[in-house]
Amino acid sequence: MKIFIDTAKIDEIQEAFSWGIIDGVTTNPSLIKSALDELKNKGEKIDIETYIKNILEIAKGFPVSLEVIGSNFEEMYKEAKILYEKFNKISNNVVIKIPINPSLGEKGNYDGLKTIYKLSKDGIPVNVTLIMKVEQAILASKAGAKYVSPFAGRIDDYLRNKIKWNDFKKEDYYPENGIKFKEEVINDEGILSGVDLVRKIVDVFNKYNFETEIIAASIRNSRQVRELAQTGVHIATVPFYVLSEMLVHNKTAEGMRKFVQDVVPEYRNVFYK
Ligand code: E4P
Repeated sequence: MKIFIDTAKIDEIQEAFSWGIIDGVTTNPSLIKSALDELKNKGEKIDIETYIKNILEIAKGFPVSLEVIGSNFEEMYKEAKILYEKFNKISNNVVIKIPINPSLGEKGNYDGLKTIYKLSKDGIPVNVTLIMKVEQAILASKAGAKYVSPFAGRIDDYLRNKIKWNDFKKEDYYPENGIKFKEEVINDEGILSGVDLVRKIVDVFNKYNFETEIIAASIRNSRQVRELAQTGVHIATVPFYVLSEMLVHNKTAEGMRKFVQDVVPEYRNVFYK
């Protein structure tokens, strides 16, 4: 499984790349807002184009997803071209993120599919975002998407909200096989959790040898990363705080304390005379 880092914060991207475990970067307008807000709070001046160029340089050799901001075909296609033309020449690693259905209301529109198809025909790699159902992933792949990004954590939020369970924290674990409520497992048209959504997309894509790679997104905790890895998903895009959590175990820390305590002078002298 490849690991992408899900952030627009340069210090996080730089740090994670220095560990040799990162295979790509995903951003979205909210992640860019959070990165820039942090810099603004420190009083730093921001030149957004230089900022994006820095990310692309750090991630040279690995894909970086940049998202459009429009919600119809004309806007999204134009913005995708602007992003690609301005930034792909830096490190040749830009992927354009397009929402599967850019409608701002309940009803769908087809402009996402149209944009995915047109950009893919132009040879521009597309990461299709806001995938909340298997059916959307199938359509995105058929339209030519290089990647689809199912949002595991947001499906878990949705399932909890369905039963008015509001006092959970974003990073709380939600079981892969769902939660029983009044004799029925809470589900979204048969989907039991975010991990279950990803598992079902992996299953369908494998059955038909779809070439589109699946990026499990909206990941909230380290156990979710493990369960996602077990689905056979190609990629997990992981926030920095979850990467940190993946490293931690009480017994590892306890073992470390014991090793440090047991170093005898003779052994220390091997390293430091
Ligand atoms: C990445 O591609 C997604 O935009 C991101 O994982 C969404 O995560 P969130 O649901 O925690 O905002």
